[in-house]
Amino acid sequence: MPCVAIADATGLHGHDVPQQEDARFSMAERREEQGTAPLPPYHLPVLPAEIDEWMNAQPGDAIIDGTLGGGGHTALFLEKGATVLGIDRDPEAIHYATHRLRSFSEKLHTYQANYSQMREHPGLPASGKVQGILLDLGVSSHQLDCAERGFSFQKDGPLDMRMGPNAVMTAADFVNDSSEQEICQVLREWGEEPQARRIARLIVDRRAKQPFTRTSDLAQCIENSIGRHGRTHPATRTFQAIRMRVNEELSLLHDALEAALHCLAPGGRLLVITFHSLEDRMVKQFMQHRAKPFIDDPTWPAPRSNPEHFLDLPTRKAISASSAEIATNPRARSAKLRVALRNCQPIRTP
Ligand SMILES: C[S@@+](CC[C@H](N)C(=O)[O-])C[C@H]1O[C@@H](n2cnc3c(N)ncnc32)[C@H](O)[C@@H]1O
Repeated sequence: MPCVAIADATGLHGHDVPQQEDARFSMAERREEQGTAPLPPYHLPVLPAEIDEWMNAQPGDAIIDGTLGGGGHTALFLEKGATVLGIDRDPEAIHYATHRLRSFSEKLHTYQANYSQMREHPGLPASGKVQGILLDLGVSSHQLDCAERGFSFQKDGPLDMRMGPNAVMTAADFVNDSSEQEICQVLREWGEEPQARRIARLIVDRRAKQPFTRTSDLAQCIENSIGRHGRTHPATRTFQAIRMRVNEELSLLHDALEAALHCLAPGGRLLVITFHSLEDRMVKQFMQHRAKPFIDDPTWPAPRSNPEHFLDLPTRKAISASSAEIATNPRARSAKLRVALRNCQPIRTP
């Protein structure tokens, strides 16, 4: 599947979608429709057996796939007879999955939006009517593989990293316009980069002479500064941190978890796959707090019932990929699946 640099809704940071790319996009689809070539792969879904088992989709269920991507997980739910509301902020994912899953067009409804907006989108079922929600976080292989999208330090491309046109800035905006202190903080907190201070200083010194515009330029600059140790590229953590900042990944995840509580019917399943320790910690703490019938505080005479007891945990531990899956899909190595079930406690809105 050819990729197209995404057009910005504001036109400020956008890269026009070249006509020629559009034509290639539809050519791959035409060849697939004619049966002369399969649709190029987009993303290999992680933990497919585990997602299938824990979602346990039934005919007639309404399921929100908040991270539609190439539609791999969604296909599992559709094959069970469920209706899927597929959300993705990336127009390319919406385009690909809609085409790939066109034989299910009556049961697949797609929305280009942030998953944090799952409650607000017109056409979604009323609150409390959804039997399952899946969030499979991070980027798709397609996004990483497209040099034009600017996610990869291994491929030269514009320093972009926006998952969709609704991101507030590009990666170039972040590295060229943020203060040294903010860059350092983002690299330290979100990239867990031990050399955050040194890299931030280097970025600020270099951009004073020439702003960064290309992924290879930033990656090379980081490598020149801190050198290569071991097999991991020295720019790995920096690129991950910048991507998370550009796409506001942690704050949107928090909002999505809250929204999911409102959408799920009693007994509804919430499945979240993370690839990053900060995200996993957020999901774990969110679920564990809402699974406590009672909460306590040293200043209280006795434990009190938890007004946010909205979930039950069928398993407290995160589920990881089998070694067989990791052998065929190395990306699954860092995947962690957490599962919670919505209980009957209503959410009181103030
Ligand atoms: C790991 S891929 C999902 C792959 C998918 N499960 C499949 O089987 O093909 C993650 C997807 O989530 C999307 N995404 C990331 N953050 C998002 C957000 N805040 N709102 C909506 N989509 C988001 C990305 O654009 C990407 O397509």
